[in-house]
Order: sequence, then C-alpha cells, then structure tokens
Amino acid sequence: MYKTVLLSFFLICVTVTKGTKVKEVAVNIGRNITIFCPITKAGDIEWSRDGRKDTQKTEWNVLEDNSLFLANVQKNSSGVYICSRRNSVDSDEVAKINVTVKTPPPPLKNVVVRPSTILALLLWDLAGDGGYPIVNFTAQYRLAYTNTSWLPISPNHITPNSRQIEVYNLTPNTTYQFRIWATNQLGRSPQTEVYGTTLDVYSEEELARHLLQGVETFDRRIWAVAVGIVMGTLILLGLGVCFLLYHECRISSVGEEHEVIELVPNIILNPGFDPNTNPTDQVPDENSNSETPMRLNNNTVIHPIA
Ligand SMILES: *[C@@H]1O[C@H](CO)[C@@H](O)[C@H](O)[C@H]1NC(C)=O
Ligand SMILES: *[C@@H]1O[C@H](CO)[C@@H](O)[C@H](O)[C@H]1NC(C)=O
Ligand SMILES: *[C@@H]1O[C@H](CO)[C@@H](O)[C@H](O)[C@H]1NC(C)=O
Ligand SMILES: *[C@@H]1O[C@H](CO)[C@@H](O)[C@H](O)[C@H]1NC(C)=O
Ligand SMILES: *[C@@H]1O[C@H](CO)[C@@H](O)[C@H](O)[C@H]1NC(C)=O
Ligand SMILES: *[C@@H]1O[C@H](CO)[C@@H](O)[C@H](O)[C@H]1NC(C)=O
Repeated sequence: MYKTVLLSFFLICVTVTKGTKVKEVAVNIGRNITIFCPITKAGDIEWSRDGRKDTQKTEWNVLEDNSLFLANVQKNSSGVYICSRRNSVDSDEVAKINVTVKTPPPPLKNVVVRPSTILALLLWDLAGDGGYPIVNFTAQYRLAYTNTSWLPISPNHITPNSRQIEVYNLTPNTTYQFRIWATNQLGRSPQTEVYGTTLDVYSEEELARHLLQGVETFDRRIWAVAVGIVMGTLILLGLGVCFLLYHECRISSVGEEHEVIELVPNIILNPGFDPNTNPTDQVPDENSNSETPMRLNNNTVIHPIA
C-alpha cells in the first residue's frame, strides 16, 4: 500500500474533473508514471487506451494493485487511458485518465527572414509551449553554405514575448543562414533554419535613383506651374505697388499746391463758412473731401488732404 504511494513520485499533477469523470495526469517526458485505477485495487480489471484495447499492450506493465506503470513516457504516450472491470457493461465500472506528457517546445512555425542590404528581420510564431512556459528564444546566424561558427544574434536572451529580432552588420548581396529555437524548463525545441539573401547596394541605389527620377518628373510639371503662379503673382503685386506708389506721390504733390491756393478763396468767397454744419449738407469741394474741416482759429480753416 505504502509502496504504491511511493511509485506515484513521478506523477506531477493530478486533478479530478467532476462531471466528465476524466482524471487529468501530467508527466514530464522521459519519466516513469504509475496510473492508478480508481475502480478497485484488487479484482479483474483491464487497461485500454482511447477505446482501443490492444494497442501498445505489450509495453504496458500492470502492477499487482491494478495500477498501470509506464516507463520512459514519450510524446505519443499522451492520451486517455481507460481502466474497466473485465466483462462488465456498467458505466460506473469504467474510469478514464487523461495523461498529458510535457515536453520541450515544438519547433517554431512561420519562421521567415526579411533581409535588406545590411539588416535582416527574423520573425517567428510559437506552435506551442510543450506544457511549460517559454523561458527564452535563441537565434543565431552565419554565412550560408559554410562551416563557419554560428554567431549569436543580440540580445542573446530573447524574451518569451518576442516574435521578431533584427540582425545588424550584414554584408550586402550575401546569403545568410539563420536558426532559432525556443526553450522551456524541459529543454530546447528543435532548431528551425531559414536562408536569406541581403539586397545589393547597387540595386538599392538603382531603386533610389528610380524613385528620385519619378520624383523629378513628377515635380517638374508641378514646379513649373507653381513657380509660374508665384512669379506671376509677385510681378503683378510689384507692378501694383509701384503703380500705387507712383500714383500716391503724384496726388500728394498736386494736392499740396491746391491746398495752399484754396485756403484763401474759401475764406474770402465763403465768409460764413462753418465747419460745424452737418457735413452731408455741404457741397463737396474740389477735392471731394468727406471729412469735416478743422478750425484752427477764427480765420483759418484747414481741409484735410485727400
Ligand atoms: C523507470 O523505470 C525503469 C524500469 O522500467 C527504470 O530502469 C528506470 O530507472 C526508471 N526511471 C526513473 C527515472 O526512475
Ligand atoms: C512513440 O515514440 C517513440 C519515440 O518518440 C517511438 O520509439 C515509439 O515507437 C512510439 N510509439 C508508438 C506506438 O508510436
Ligand atoms: C487531455 O488533456 C489535454 C491537455 O490538457 C487536453 O488538451 C485534452 O482535451 C484532454 N482530453 C480529454 C479527453 O479530456
Ligand atoms: C562541413 O563539415 C562537415 C563535417 O564536419 C563536412 O562533411 C562538410 O563537407 C563541410 N562543408 C563545408 C562546406 O566545408
Ligand atoms: C535560455 O534559458 C535557458 C534555461 O533557463 C538557459 O539555460 C539559457 O542560457 C538561456 N539562453 C539565453 C541565450 O539566455
Ligand atoms: C551579387 O552577387 C552575385 C552572386 O554572388 C554576383 O553575381 C553579382 O555580381 C553581385 N552583385 C554585385 C553588384 O556585386
């Protein structure tokens, strides 16, 4: 009795799922496991797996207490094991145990490399964690088709949440070999290798020149129109300003002469001239000033210059 408890040393985790009556058992790869039959410890029972009664039976070792002993479990040892009372159709006399074998992570999937001239971006996806959380990823590279040693891709410790990493200092127009794997507490996944060829500097220059050419031809027309519009506007504005300035100069010089001459006749011809009368009643003078004249003293009235 006590021995059987000791044998369960390799049993990592046991949970009884109510309702489905399926017992969950997890075990690390390469370990031994003893699966107990919950129905009875003595009596006529038999073990089967996934409903097939005669698979792998030769490897199976049923102990005295009706428990099933599996040595050196592998990934393919995972599955639902059934212990049932022989020659019985009563469903209460059947127990199901779901055995999960935990492993290092499976190979990464969707591993691709996107090279540029001196950089490359390595991308990957996780196909699973094998039953334990990923501890880290490791990525390396080297010149393709050589036996040179692998160079680490820094950072050396790629965090479990990463799904891409950049590789620096590559040579243009060169094919590289990249490899990457994931690690959990049980070990490494198989390595996944990909090849990538960096771009030619020349081809990139060519590409840049092509793009620039496109920019030039595209811009030439736009620039011509834009410059034309701007220059035309500037010339028109300049001409307008010149004309206005010229006009202003002429008017002001003529107006000053008028003003001096005009003062006297206004006073003589219009002695009752009163600048405080309603401007709208006034007849516009020669300068058509709409502004009210200003009286300096009793004798002098100054009309604002137009
Ligand atoms: C597993 O069982 C085998 C016998 O089937 C034994 O030789 C081996 O040492 C056991 N492994 C461990 C880790 O106890
Ligand atoms: C299970 O896998 C192991 C190694 O991974 C292999 O030796 C064995 O034949 C496999 N068993 C079955 C039933 O496929
Ligand atoms: C057995 O356990 C595995 C892993 O926990 C789970 O994916 C699977 O669905 C279970 N099978 C049954 C029949 O419960
Ligand atoms: C790389 O080394 C292996 C053995 O270590 C050898 O068989 C192979 O020819 C070598 N390849 C090159 C390209 O040197
Ligand atoms: C990844 O994790 C494993 C296990 O903890 C450790 O041995 C290994 O050195 C780590 N690798 C890197 C590159 O940090
Ligand atoms: C790029 O490499 C290929 C093969 O290695 C070679 O034929 C080609 O001339 C190289 N291009 C340049 C611009 O060096």
